[in-house]
Amino acid sequence: MSPLIAFEGPEGAGKTTQLARLDRRLSAMGQRVLSLAEPGGTELGEAVRSLLLGGGGQTSPVAELLLFGASRAELVAQRILPALAAGELVLLDRFTLSSRAYQGGGRGIPQIWLEQLEFWVAGGLRPDLTLLLDLPPEQGLARAARRQPLDRMEGQGLQFHARVARVYREAAAGDASVVLLDAAQPQEVVAERIWEQVTSRFQLP
Ligand code: TYD
Repeated sequence: MSPLIAFEGPEGAGKTTQLARLDRRLSAMGQRVLSLAEPGGTELGEAVRSLLLGGGGQTSPVAELLLFGASRAELVAQRILPALAAGELVLLDRFTLSSRAYQGGGRGIPQIWLEQLEFWVAGGLRPDLTLLLDLPPEQGLARAARRQPLDRMEGQGLQFHARVARVYREAAAGDASVVLLDAAQPQEVVAERIWEQVTSRFQLP
């Protein structure tokens, strides 16, 4: 199967921009690429996105976890597995590590529940490489707020986002497939670091 690469990180770290850059660069060299963002990418996933991120209402942590999980299960079955089987390299804007960071770290759901859910939802599918764009929560939230009004998750406060950041950093420390990159560097520098990681790990056309 072709590579599965996830972009992870806190709010405002520049994942979406970097993912689009990598997609363009890979595509230009003839690599077939599919880029997807969570939650979303399927009819059910888009409905989950507007449910969870659209309004400002309260959702219980477990309901929130299951909704992100439902979106992911659909994305894996309908889009990711077929693309990998067809030889496309898949770029994901967030995957299971987001649930560990936000629902685990942020909301306090036990990591063992998350591990079990991951197995149901993604059937053991794990990214070959996770690019973790690291940025202190204060800086990321300030960047996100300059872009547009904060959505429901972004508006959770600094303490919440500090817990999210901690889980991300722990993941990078304990897993060689998770690479931590300093997202405070200029966009071009981050893009080069990403390119080095991708070209050194995978055989590309
Ligand atoms: P989005 O608007 O896609 O922004 P970005 O990914 O650029 O931050 O928002 C997705 C939000 O959903 C983000 O605040 C993180 C959150 N989220 C979770 O809490 N758990 C998850 O499993 C996923 C995939 C996302």
